[in-house]
Amino acid sequence: TFVVTDNCIKCKYTDCVEVCPVDCFYEGPNFLVIDPDECIDCALCEPECPAQAIFSEDEVPADQQQFIELNVELSEKWRDNNITEMKDKADDAEEWDGVPDKLQYLEK
Ligand code: SF4
Ligand code: F3S
Repeated sequence: TFVVTDNCIKCKYTDCVEVCPVDCFYEGPNFLVIDPDECIDCALCEPECPAQAIFSEDEVPADQQQFIELNVELSEKWRDNNITEMKDKADDAEEWDGVPDKLQYLEK
C-alpha cells in the first residue's frame, strides 16, 4: 500500500486524488489519507504529489512510521469524506511545504 505522510499536513495539494484508479483517498481538515485496504499499489499517486508526501509503505522514512497506522485509523474516521477531484490547496501551502514535524498541527 501507499501512505500519506507528514509533509501533506497543512499543504493538502490534492493532485494525488485525480489519478487514483480506485478512489481510495479520504479527506480531513488539513490532511489526506489512503485507505490501505483499498489501495492497489499502482504507484500513480506518488509522483503527483508536489510535496512528495506519498511513499510506498516499505519506503516510509524511519521517523514517519506512525503515519502507516494513521492512514489506517483516519481512513476509517473520515470514511464519509472520500475525495476524488482536485480542489484548491491550502492558502498558505507553499509556506508550509517542507516544514518538518507537522504532525502537531494535524486536525482530526
Ligand atoms: Fe490510489 Fe494507486 Fe496511490 Fe494506491 S498507489 S492510493 S491505488 S493512486
Ligand atoms: Fe497531500 Fe500531496 Fe495529495 S500534499 S493532498 S498527498 S498531492
